[in-house]
Order: sequence, then C-alpha cells, then structure tokens
Amino acid sequence: MNRTIKSFCSRWRRRAAALVCAALAALAVGCGGASEPPVLRVGVALYTQDDTFISTIAQELERMARQEEQARGMRINLSVVDGRSNQTTQLDQIDSLIGRGCDALCVNIVDRTAAAVLIDKAREAGVPLIFFNRQPVAEDMLRWEHAYYVGAKAEESGVLQGQLVLEAWQADPGLDRNGDGVLQYVMLEGEPGHQDAMLRTEYAVKALTDAGVAVEKLASDTANWKRGQAMAKAQQWLEDPGAAAIEVVFANNDDMALGAIDAFEQAGEPLPLVVGVDATAPALEAVETGKLYGTVRNDGAGIARAMLDLALALTDGSDPAGAVDLVDGHYVWLPYRAITARDLARQTP
Ligand code: BGC
Ligand code: CA
Repeated sequence: MNRTIKSFCSRWRRRAAALVCAALAALAVGCGGASEPPVLRVGVALYTQDDTFISTIAQELERMARQEEQARGMRINLSVVDGRSNQTTQLDQIDSLIGRGCDALCVNIVDRTAAAVLIDKAREAGVPLIFFNRQPVAEDMLRWEHAYYVGAKAEESGVLQGQLVLEAWQADPGLDRNGDGVLQYVMLEGEPGHQDAMLRTEYAVKALTDAGVAVEKLASDTANWKRGQAMAKAQQWLEDPGAAAIEVVFANNDDMALGAIDAFEQAGEPLPLVVGVDATAPALEAVETGKLYGTVRNDGAGIARAMLDLALALTDGSDPAGAVDLVDGHYVWLPYRAITARDLARQTP
C-alpha cells in the first residue's frame, strides 16, 4: 500500500469514526446531552455556472442533499464554485476546497485534458474525486483508485439523435424539401474538444449513413453549447441563398437547437427538422409545440444522485460498488433516452 493510499485510508477511517461518534452523540441527546449532527462537506466545482444543463445538475444535488439530511439525520454542506471556464481559476478553487477540509470533491472539469494534476492533488490530500459530465481521458482515471467519473456515453446520445432523424426521414417524404433523395443538414457543435461535441457530431450522422441514407453537410460550426451563439451562426447561414436547402438542423445540445429555431423564426423562414440533446425544460416545451422535433434526455438528476450516493459511501466507510453501479472500478454510466412529442403525449394522462 503506497503512502497516498495509506493517507486516504487513515483519513477515511478518521472520517468514518467521526461520523460514528457523531451518530452516537446524536443518540445521547435523548439522554440529556447536546450534540451536533455529523457533517459531510462536499466541494462541487462547475466549469461554469452559466450552462443550462450544468445548473440543473447543481440544483438537483442541492435538492437531494436536503432530502438525505432529513433521511440520515446529518448535515451535508455543498460548497459550489464557478470555474468561469478557466482551468487555472478552477485549480485554485479546488486547492481552497481541499484546504478548507472538504470530504469529497465533485468536479465538472474545465479542460478535460488537465485531469492528471487534479487527481494527483486529491490523492495527495486523500479526498475522493468524482468527475462528472466532462470526461477525463482514460489513462488519467487510472492514476488513483478513488478517482471516479459519473456521466453518460457520448456516442449513445449521438446514435439516438441520428435515429430520431432517421425515423422522421423515413416516415415523411416531405422532409426531403428539394426531392433529391439526399438529406441536407447543418450541424451546431458544442465546445471543441468536449467528448459530447465530438462524438454526438460523429455518431448522429453515422446512424443515418449506416442505415443507407445519403447525407450532405451544408455547414457546421461550434456555438459552444450556447443559445445566443447558435442563433448568430444560424443567422449567418440563413443569409446564404442556399439556406432554403437546409432540411435538418442537428444541434449537440438543446440550447443550441433553440438558438437555431430563434434564427429561423426571426428570419421568417419555415422551420426545418431540428433536434437537440438534454431535454431541458424549455426544450421540452418546444417539443410540445412542435418547433423542436425531438431531443435526447441527458439524465442530470441521475448524475446528481450517483454523485451523492458515491460521496456518502466513500466517506462513511461503505463499499462504493454497493451504492452505485460501478464499471471498471471508476465509472458510473447513466442511460440516454430519445424524446419526441409522441413520448410526451404518452406521459400526459
Ligand atoms: C450537455 C450540454 C452542456 C455540456 C457542458 C453536455 O453533456 O449536453 O448542454 O453544455 O455538457 O459540459
Ligand atoms: Ca434533399
């Protein structure tokens, strides 16, 4: 057993012992003694707070932490910090969270190639580290047994998005506006280098070509997950006389899909088939009104649940594999699910 693992284990034992003592002390209250409930301190570092999907995960975490407090008679302090899309800022924030004695870290890393430094810091301090949504490269994850990743498989969301379009294309010949038998599309991509941007872009189109559909890319560009940037890109595309040929808009997330819809509406152009990913509240509304053909649910609540379960297990001395479905000792995978207006209608009683 090396030194850092030893330090993690002794820290972990101290923590488990502290929780047990506090629980015993809490029992003693009934016999006249006063005591504080045990406290779990979790540092939550977001790449930015200004992201629709990420802020839903943070809200879910808060909500679930409050529920667990009630259920377990303990306190859960979440310290949420905003990395403002700057890796140096985020590293400083993590240093300070570790310095303030947090028991577990949940990290939505700004630059996923910078994970090694962070894992080494956490290992040195003996604080278990749970990455989420922005996936470190596999080799980095192997640097420490207590580095975890909670997220969803990017390829899966791409395939599901492509299948949504495939199904619509096969069902409605009118989607082939120019009748040439080829699906003309544009692609709005998320942040360059993000696993979800790269793999959704690739696998959405692959699902169509694998099914024998001929496709033609008219334009593609990054809009960094943002509605405003996507609207601006789509406005540029719409200025081109060839824009009338756009039959499908693929967007790597819902905010960008909504941005594209904004641009078409503002230009007074008929909406093509638009698809997104996430199933945010405004996107589901747009599915209901028929502006957005479909989306792929990214399970933010599931991600929050798994992180909290992992943090609780890692700090109260139980086996993390008993608390979550742990793959290869490091990964928790949440499934994606495709959603169209039909699915929403089915859910409404
Ligand atoms: C989501 C995006 C989000 C990004 C942030 C993706 O999984 O689909 O909406 O902006 O993660 O990392
Ligand atoms: Ca066509």
